[in-house]
Amino acid sequence: MGRLAPLGLGLLGIIASGCDDAASRRDPQASPTAVTSAEARPESPARARPEPESPARARPAPETRPSPLVPVSAWSDEWMLEQADRYLYDLAFRREMLERSLTNHDNQYSRARLSAYARDDQGWDLLPEWVPRTQPITAAVATRLAAGETPALDPSAAPLWDGTRPSTMAQWVELGRKVFFEYPLRPEVFAEHALAHPAIATEVGLGPGTDERWPGLVLFEDIGHEPRVGITCALCHTTVEAGAVVEGRARRELDYGRLRLAYHRDSGAPLPPVLAERMASWGPGRADITEDDDQDPVAIPDLWGVKQHSALTQAGTIRHLHPAVLAIRQETQITHANRERSRPPRELAWALAMYVYSLQPPPREAAPSGPQVERGAELFARGCERCHDDAVHGGDPVPARLVGTDPTLAFGLARGTGRYRPAPLLRVAEAAPYLHHGQLASLEELLSTERLAASYDRGVHGPGPIEGHLFGTELPPEDRGALLAYLRTL
Ligand code: HEC
Ligand code: HEC
Repeated sequence: MGRLAPLGLGLLGIIASGCDDAASRRDPQASPTAVTSAEARPESPARARPEPESPARARPAPETRPSPLVPVSAWSDEWMLEQADRYLYDLAFRREMLERSLTNHDNQYSRARLSAYARDDQGWDLLPEWVPRTQPITAAVATRLAAGETPALDPSAAPLWDGTRPSTMAQWVELGRKVFFEYPLRPEVFAEHALAHPAIATEVGLGPGTDERWPGLVLFEDIGHEPRVGITCALCHTTVEAGAVVEGRARRELDYGRLRLAYHRDSGAPLPPVLAERMASWGPGRADITEDDDQDPVAIPDLWGVKQHSALTQAGTIRHLHPAVLAIRQETQITHANRERSRPPRELAWALAMYVYSLQPPPREAAPSGPQVERGAELFARGCERCHDDAVHGGDPVPARLVGTDPTLAFGLARGTGRYRPAPLLRVAEAAPYLHHGQLASLEELLSTERLAASYDRGVHGPGPIEGHLFGTELPPEDRGALLAYLRTL
């Protein structure tokens, strides 16, 4: 392995400067306990949207969000097939969707896109399209890597798309699946290192499925034609459970920080101590995927039911107005991750969006029912639905201070909007750890006030109180039990 240059650093472009204290950013009026316990009273029937606030860093989104062009209930396959052309060929439409979908035009995420995306004569639209040749990481490839060699691609490995535009939804989804598993976001020296050192791979939660392929990693021919190991969407959004690949499930055992640290430790490639400390703090199932100085690693989400989300990401960075909005997210994510050297053909980004919409949780046994679950549903309707207005798919983002959870992400420079999205609760019982920071191990703890104590030491990523989201904690134990029973049916 001759190339130990840290080419894979794009994701963590965090510069170790001006590391400001997250606590200093807290809105002094946002005493989570005071605000949220008042909000939490289940007898309060108010369904009104919470008032605007003035966050220190993120400008709050305007209260009246532009209405979606077409309500999501009308996003039929047929309609989406028609809409593909608007995204693929109509530059003005893409620009309009970009501008309308970004909740806070002043965060880094938005600024990067507003300055470079869907501009007529400049920016990312002018980058060359790139369709790499890729092949899966199989046992044979892993063995060669372990022997210190990056093998050339099999001559029969074809570019992952032959340029034929799909004509049915099934074809779009199939192409999207290929992109999800095979399109490299970028070369990744960290992953290559782990493949060469199986003990590290196991330690950080990477491994093959029963088909002996490693989902999330590929061998590909880079733009300069050299073979590289790359990461794909499936690295974070697919798991291997008892050998079976579960598409769309967050890979909660992936310790991405540790993966990077192992590379730096073994190669001697320099890493500023402040970054090393941050990576060590992520733990499994979280990553800080932004480029600011904020320490705001987020839990990797399951990608189920995304079509119905009114906003994308946990801070509601993007209003989900149209499928083109997701396609733009994916197109710009790939372009940016690949250090703006190329862009994916738009057909591939649209296909990725169609694939993400197609993802559903794996089948399970019939959810329990009965009086306790019914009681829980009633309690949910009274105390939770004004935010989680669709229990399964979440709700519109609310001001972070109304929830009172750690505000760092909501007010972060990178993606901040001043808000958090009421979490989608589809299969929530399988989605531990909870909240955007993944600090809470169980739903029982979410509904209990024990976690607020200064001495609390059962946080998933370290000791200390886990504040906010007091909704439901005021209920008598029996009702909390009913609410839990209901949540487990979602
Ligand atoms: C390094 C891990 C990683 C990789 C690789 C990755 N993601 Fe994600 N993804 C995340 C994390 C973490 C979030 C949560 C971000 C947030 O809420 O701020 C996320 C959020 C999302 C969301 C928003 C979900 C929601 O509920 O709003 C979608 C959609 C998504 N990713 C799709 C993709 C696709 C498609 C790819 C491949 C192009 C990809 N991701 C690659 C970690 C990853
Ligand atoms: C004021 C709005 C609001 C109310 C009321 C509310 N929630 Fe939430 N809920 C949120 C937000 C916002 C989040 C995400 C917070 C975060 O990640 O920091 C959330 C997160 C959650 C989560 C975590 C899910 C995950 O995967 O991490 C659960 C479970 C949940 N809420 C259940 C409930 C229940 C049960 C009630 C009623 C007793 C309720 N919520 C009331 C806004 C609300």
